Amino acid sequence: MITQLVGKLDATAVLTILLCTVGCLQSGGSKADIKAAAGKPANNSECIVCHMDFAEELISKAHEKAGIACTACHGPSLAHGDDEYNITPPDMLFGRAEITGFCRKCHPTHRKGAAYEAFVAEWLGRRRPNGRMILQDSVCTDCHGEHAVLRPDQM
Ligand code: HEC
Ligand code: HEC
Ligand code: HEC
Ligand code: HEC
Repeated sequence: MITQLVGKLDATAVLTILLCTVGCLQSGGSKADIKAAAGKPANNSECIVCHMDFAEELISKAHEKAGIACTACHGPSLAHGDDEYNITPPDMLFGRAEITGFCRKCHPTHRKGAAYEAFVAEWLGRRRPNGRMILQDSVCTDCHGEHAVLRPDQM
C-alpha cells in the first residue's frame, strides 16, 4: 500500500499547492491570516456516514471548522465512498514520511514553541494515549489527534 501511495506523491504535491494558493502562500501564517484564507466551515457528512469515529477527532474537526474537509486532504474519493465492498481506496493517503511536509505547508512553525518543547521533554520515549511513541523525529499526528488506523508496521 505504501509503495502505491508514493506513486501518488505528485497528486499530493499538486493539491498542496492548490490549497496553499488559497491558504498559505499569501498568508503570514498567523492564526488570523490562516483563518481569513480558509473561509467557511466545511461539511464532512459524506465521509462521517461511514467513518463515525472521525466526527469528533481533532484533526478532522479542527480543519472542518476552518473549511478544510476530509476531501481536501484525501481527495474527493467518490469511488471509495460508493464502493460498498470497500475495495477501492480513497484518492490520497499518506506515508509516514510525507506527513510533516504536508502539514507544514500551512503550519510552518509552532507558535507555542515553549509549550511544544515542554511537551517533548515530558513525553520523550513514552507512548501517547493515541498509541504513538514520542521520539525526536515524531510526526505531527503522533502528538495531534487520533487520526490514523494504526497498523503493526507503523508502530
Ligand atoms: C460506504 C462507507 C464509506 C464511505 C462513505 C467512506 N468510507 Fe472511507 N473507508 C471505509 C471503510 C470500511 C474503510 C476501511 C476501514 C478503515 O480504515 O476505517 C475506509 C478507509 C478509509 C481510509 C483509509 C484507507 C487505508 O487504506 O488505510 C481513508 C483515508 C478513508 N477511508 C477516507 C474517506 C473519505 C475522505 C471519505 C469521504 C469522501 C470516505 N472515506 C467515505 C468506508 C467508507
Ligand atoms: C489536514 C488533513 C487531513 C484531514 C482534514 C483529514 N485527514 Fe485523514 N489523514 C491525514 C493524514 C496526514 C493521515 C495519516 C496519519 C498518520 O498515519 O499518522 C490520515 C489518515 C487517515 C486515515 C487512516 C489511514 C491509514 O492508512 O491508517 C483515515 C481512515 C482517515 N484519515 C480518514 C479521514 C476522514 C474520514 C476525514 C474527515 C472526517 C479526514 N481523514 C480528514 C490527513 C487528513
Ligand atoms: C490547507 C491548509 C492546512 C493544512 C494542509 C493543514 N492544516 Fe491544520 N489547520 C489549518 C487551519 C486553517 C486551522 C484552523 C486555524 C488554526 O487554528 O490555526 C488548522 C488547525 C489545526 C490544528 C488545531 C490548532 C488549535 O489551535 O487548536 C491542529 C492541531 C492542526 N491544524 C494540525 C495539522 C496537521 C497535523 C496537519 C497535517 C495532517 C495539518 N494541520 C494540515 C490549515 C491547515
Ligand atoms: C512532540 C509532540 C508534537 C509534535 C510532533 C507536533 N506538535 Fe503541534 N503542538 C504540540 C504541543 C504540545 C502544542 C501546544 C498545545 C497547546 O498548548 O495548545 C502544539 C500546538 C500546535 C498547534 C496550535 C498552536 C501552535 O503552536 O501553533 C498547531 C497548529 C500544531 N501544533 C501543528 C503541528 C504540526 C503541523 C506538526 C507537524 C509539522 C506538529 N504540530 C507536531 C505538540 C506537538
